[in-house]
Amino acid sequence: MADLIDGKALAAEVTGKVSQHAADLIASGITPGLAVVIVGEDPASQVYVASKSKRAKECGFHSVQHTLAEETSEDELVALVEALNADPAIHGILVQLPLPGHIDSGTIIQTIAPEKDVDGFHFINVGKLGTGELDTAFVPCTPAGAMLMLERVRGRDLSGLNAVVVGRSNIVGKPMANLLLAANATVTIAHSRTADLPALARTADILVAAVGRPEMIKGDWVKPGATVIDVGINRVPAPERGEGKSRLVGDVAFDEGAAIAGAITPVPGGVGPMTIAMLMANTLVSACRAAGRQPPAL
Ligand code: GUN
Repeated sequence: MADLIDGKALAAEVTGKVSQHAADLIASGITPGLAVVIVGEDPASQVYVASKSKRAKECGFHSVQHTLAEETSEDELVALVEALNADPAIHGILVQLPLPGHIDSGTIIQTIAPEKDVDGFHFINVGKLGTGELDTAFVPCTPAGAMLMLERVRGRDLSGLNAVVVGRSNIVGKPMANLLLAANATVTIAHSRTADLPALARTADILVAAVGRPEMIKGDWVKPGATVIDVGINRVPAPERGEGKSRLVGDVAFDEGAAIAGAITPVPGGVGPMTIAMLMANTLVSACRAAGRQPPAL
């Protein structure tokens, strides 16, 4: 049975360190500020956004949430982002995705000032990550959290290890591949058009699943002893729990994967909690940079 990589515990550790450093910064007169913006009523997004705002408050941050109606125009949202860009009390801006269809998310993301883009989605931050300028970049929170989990098992230097990232999204797959490359892993990005995905996955010392398909990755796709990072969070029906009930599963068939892997992240309680912790860390880093201070190592 594989070792479990406990995301809840690691996220609590990161958040604890962030709160401590935030207290120091606050004592010197600078309060880290995070603005979270949500447009529309998508229930899952509402839950995510509420927990981001709440965690920011728990870290001692100045935390503001802007909840806008579904009908909000692109121009209105651009104006809000520009106002937040100009607000010195705000160090991090997060616009929750997806946005309603009539708003172009690319336009909104590129409006966020790169030095406040704690999601790491602006072209400037994507480019910095791609060229290894990690000291001044913001790295997207989910892959940053996944790397911290991986570091606990494999250390910081992944020289000689094969990593396969299944999924090529801009939010997870591509930045994850860049982070693995920066840590000296030999990286392959696989996706829906990849030939013989199971065989490729079996070459992976580090297997990252970020496809959003429940339990797609089976036990016999996993190389014995591999470290498996499951980024998927999928809600599936669970009639065994009662009528209309559901449960969360990852992109990896957990029991099968855990029987073969050396270490594996559970779902829930794996990468999920790390995403919010890294958002707090990015906001603290942004406040430190704005104050001309060296950001702490986390
Ligand atoms: N929607 C799902 N994940 C994310 C994320 O990491 N950032 C933002 N802004 N929206 C999301």
